[in-house]
This record gives sequence, C-alpha cells and structure tokens, in this order.
Amino acid sequence: MVMENQASNEGSALRILDATKSFPAPDNVARNVALNATTLSVAAGEFISIIGPSGCGKSTLLRLIAGLDVPDSGELWVGNDRITGPSAERGLVFQDPNLFPWLTVSRNIQSGLVARGLLQRKRPEVDEFIRLVGLEKFAHAYPHHLSGGMAQRTALARALINHPRVLLLDEPLGALDAFTRMRMQDEVLRLWQARRTTMLLVTHDIDEAIYMADRIVVMTPHPGRVERTITVSLDRPRQRNSPEFLRLRGEILDLLHLTGNAGESANGKSGKNGLLEPEPAAQSL
Ligand SMILES: Nc1ncnc2c1ncn2[C@@H]1O[C@H](COP(=O)(O)OP(=O)(O)OP(=O)(O)O)[C@@H](O)[C@H]1O
Ligand SMILES: [Mg+2]
Repeated sequence: MVMENQASNEGSALRILDATKSFPAPDNVARNVALNATTLSVAAGEFISIIGPSGCGKSTLLRLIAGLDVPDSGELWVGNDRITGPSAERGLVFQDPNLFPWLTVSRNIQSGLVARGLLQRKRPEVDEFIRLVGLEKFAHAYPHHLSGGMAQRTALARALINHPRVLLLDEPLGALDAFTRMRMQDEVLRLWQARRTTMLLVTHDIDEAIYMADRIVVMTPHPGRVERTITVSLDRPRQRNSPEFLRLRGEILDLLHLTGNAGESANGKSGKNGLLEPEPAAQSL
C-alpha cells in the first residue's frame, strides 16, 4: 500500500568505506582517479545533498552505490548487505527522465515490475503511485505529451514503485525551469516524507542542496572525495531567505573557495576572489 500520510520507513543505512574508483585516462596509458578514498555514512531515511565542481566524481559515487560500477578498492554497504551489483532496491533517477517513448505514463511506471515478473501481484500499486505523483489525468498519455516536470515525476514514480531502500538522484531537476524546479523540490520532499526512503541528491544548485537536505556533502575538486559534511538543522518547509539559510549559503560558498576549486565551474565562470559567480536566479556551481 502507498501510504502518503503515514511515514513508512523504507530507507536503509548506507556505508561507503574508503572507496576509490579510477578509469583509463584518454591517452589509455595512465589512470584517471575519479573518486579518491571516499568514506561516507548515511543514516536510514536520511536526505543527503551532494555538491562539488564538475568532474569531481559525484556521478561516479552514485554509480558505485547503484552497483553499476565496482570500486578499485574499498567497500559499499546497504544495511547489512555488501553492494556487489545493481538491485531494484537502489533506484537511480537522472537529469534526463529516460522514459520509454512508446509506453504510456502508466506503462512506464510499471515497466520495472514487468521486468521482474511482479506486475500481477503489484498492479494495484501502479494507480496508487500515479496518484502519489499527481498524474491521474495523464496515466494514458505518452511521454511526448508531458511537460518536463511531469516526465520527471513519472521517472520518480517508476523508481519509487520498486520500494527502493535508497534512491539516488543525479541532478534530476537540472533541466527544469526555476519555477517548476522549486515545485518539484517540494514534490520530492513530500515523497521522501511519505516513504522515508534514504535519498542522495546530486545538485549543482547550492540553494536546492540547503532546501532539501538533512546534511550536505561537499566534495573536493577532481579527484573527488568528501571535503566536509554540513548538517542543516532548519525546520521544514524551509524559508529560502531566512538568515540561517543565507548564512549556510555563504558558508558553502566560502568552503568551495577555500577548497581551491575557484574558476573550475562547469561553465568556466569565476567571480571576484576566485569565487564562483552565482547565476542571477540561483547560486550554482
Ligand atoms: N566511464 C568513464 N570512463 C572514463 N572516465 C570516466 C568515466 N566516468 C567518469 N569518468 C571520469 O571520472 C571523473 C569524474 O566523473 P563524474 O561523471 O563522476 O563527475 P561529476 O562530479 O558527476 O561531474 P558533473 O558535475 O559534470 O556531472 C571525470 O574526470 C570523468 O572524466
Ligand atoms: Mg555527474
């Protein structure tokens, strides 16, 4: 049963112990260390935001947790289980919702159940998840009829219907306009509060990281590892212009400056003192 008003504590704790991952460098001789001896513990049901400059290994870290890649050394654990490969209990949602264009919203959401032979048993949940993400009127629509936010809500429902113990979100709201993005942030928080799935959100938007997370993990520039974690103890719903919110934003910008990543933003812009120049609408990396 999908219980929206009653938290259902589906999340599991996550431990990343000294994980290192390298790839062949473009010259095919050297190795490029993407993630360097990274250690991180996440409590069951915790919401973590991960920020850091482009290329610091954020997606690599999520792919290791998803079991899509294996570390060169180190260990990753979900609850008492060592991660050795992909599993439906670790969902991954990307910036591109990656819906099957030939399937309706409803069929996209149930596709994981079909693949695992569970549709018969879980069919009633499909409608409940469609309701949970507010897409009842679009259940039979195809992806090309959906707005970006609706497509991303479909992708979230498709991941959540597997009742993952950990949901990995790799810039899932990055392609949305600022208004839709803020509404989707509330949507993701609502889903998190309903299910208490452990969530890890990679974002380039410092305000989004503060608005969403219990803790923010700040990663160093390439090769990445955890530079610092910052606890956000603000009550929800959070006020984006409260003094504490703004103080945290300043602290993170300072930290990014002190970690020496100045000028290494994705778009190459750097501001005075080497700090990243914020976009007018949001502070982004
Ligand atoms: N499959 C791969 N083969 C070779 N190199 C890779 C591969 N995947 C990642 N890398 C390298 O690992 C490093 C980290 O990449 P990753 O995609 O994890 O960064 P990121 O922090 O997610 O960056 P962004 O913010 O731009 O998404 C980069 O130097 C990248 O070139
Ligand atoms: Mg990435």
